[in-house]
Amino acid sequence: MSAEAIHPAAVVILAAGAGTRMKSSTPKILHGIGGRSMIAHAIDAASGLEPERLAVVVRHERDRVAAHVLDHAPQVRIVDQDEVPGTGRAVEVALEAMPEADSGTVVVTYGDVPLLTTELLAELVNRHVDEGNSATVLTTRLEDPTGYGRVLRAEDGSVLGIVEQKDATDAEREINEVNSGIYAFDAARLRHALAQVGTDNAQGEKYLTDVLGVLRQDGDRIAAAVTTDRWQVEGANDRVQLSALGKELNRRTLERWMRAGVSVVDPDSTWVDVDVALSRDVTLLPGTHLTGRTAIGEGATVGPDTTLTDTTVGVDATVKRTDATGARIGAGATVGPFTYLRPGTVLGEDGKIGAFYETKNAVIGARTKLSHLGYVGDAEVGEDTNIGCGNITSNYDGVAKHRTVIGSQVRTGANTVFVAPVSVGDGAYTGAGAVVRHDVPAGALTITKAPQDINENWVQRKRPGTPAAVAAALRDGSAAGTTEPASTTTENGN
Ligand code: UD1
Ligand code: MG
Repeated sequence: MSAEAIHPAAVVILAAGAGTRMKSSTPKILHGIGGRSMIAHAIDAASGLEPERLAVVVRHERDRVAAHVLDHAPQVRIVDQDEVPGTGRAVEVALEAMPEADSGTVVVTYGDVPLLTTELLAELVNRHVDEGNSATVLTTRLEDPTGYGRVLRAEDGSVLGIVEQKDATDAEREINEVNSGIYAFDAARLRHALAQVGTDNAQGEKYLTDVLGVLRQDGDRIAAAVTTDRWQVEGANDRVQLSALGKELNRRTLERWMRAGVSVVDPDSTWVDVDVALSRDVTLLPGTHLTGRTAIGEGATVGPDTTLTDTTVGVDATVKRTDATGARIGAGATVGPFTYLRPGTVLGEDGKIGAFYETKNAVIGARTKLSHLGYVGDAEVGEDTNIGCGNITSNYDGVAKHRTVIGSQVRTGANTVFVAPVSVGDGAYTGAGAVVRHDVPAGALTITKAPQDINENWVQRKRPGTPAAVAAALRDGSAAGTTEPASTTTENGN
């Protein structure tokens, strides 16, 4: 069934509970899975129905939850649950806050079922509307139904109601069809039934589940829609469940991408957040973690052992054994291995940032190469420039950060240090070991001269008898290295 068939009058997401089993200072529904909080997953699934109103019921850590919810989805109405406990009361306060939602469909779902999709919600709503039900509950069958509300059915299979585990008889506890806690209701009938529900039960709570019994008594049509995909209705109550759900969510995300033309060599060691965008013919090698708003262009290869956060990788680029956050890697560029790209790194087309490099706030032009061992930060480098091995932008004077600007077609010698603020013009060269403190004009060569002394035969005099002295003496053709018997060890002092 299509996801856009019927827009509910309201969706109510229940999120007032404490979630004590997480044993966390963070409210349960703010815990993350697949790169989003659980409550954000719930809001996104509900929003896909394009309901006229979307309410989140809060109580535990109210301010923190409300701030997070509004940050993710400003259109949500935050509704505060009062001291009357129970899922029924939670829905009732939401309806009181939305008096306009007095006809049409009201969908109820939870803030802690992160794998629930818009598609499954839409199937529930469509069936509910097609059958003209007052209430349609989403259920599933579990091998171990312990803890869940059980679905009571008459001989003819019609739904009688739901009984909570704590209120159930032994025979009822044998039932393995369970209430997911996700429902579609007729708005007016839901309001009517909630007014009849009390708190006379094992938990002293106003149960939403009792609404079904009330409606059945009234002769309303109620139904259960059974899903075989238990993952979509499974809540994360503790960290064991959260991790199992996270693994399944990742498996589903990867499967979706593989079907869209992405090669994932080892799904077990590859993690992709739900907001990541991939393209056809992308290859993800083992140990790749793509998080946040990372996007990978067609034909690019990422991994092995690479973590990219909020990073863009261009078409046909290669990123190997790299950790990058907030970086933009151009088409055809190569990065890695063992490379650390920090926020603000922009690498141009066909550029290269090679082994053991760290970059930050660095805009590197097309075809420019930073091949090995260095740090480039707070810098701008032009096109077709070759930065030699071991170059460093010395951007921090102990108090403030300064910029280095290097032009196009520049060649820098190994171990050049740029003492920022400083600039190097187009086509300039630097000599090995140059310490660039002053701006270098275009086309100039800058070298830093430190006297180089040569002390002849120093080794034979100061380190007689060592393997180095022996080697030097042999080369010399003299016996100067052997004032003492030559050592027979092979150690070379390195
Ligand atoms: C509820 C259902 C049960 C179902 C199970 C599925 C009731 C009475 N029972 O049981 O039939 O099998 O969910 O997981 O509805 N909440 C509030 N306000 C409250 C109480 C709960 O907002 O006063 C929220 C919680 O934050 C949570 C959801 O409602 O998101 C379910 O609450 P929980 O206490 O987990 O209900 P269960 O006892 O598991
Ligand atoms: Mg629960």
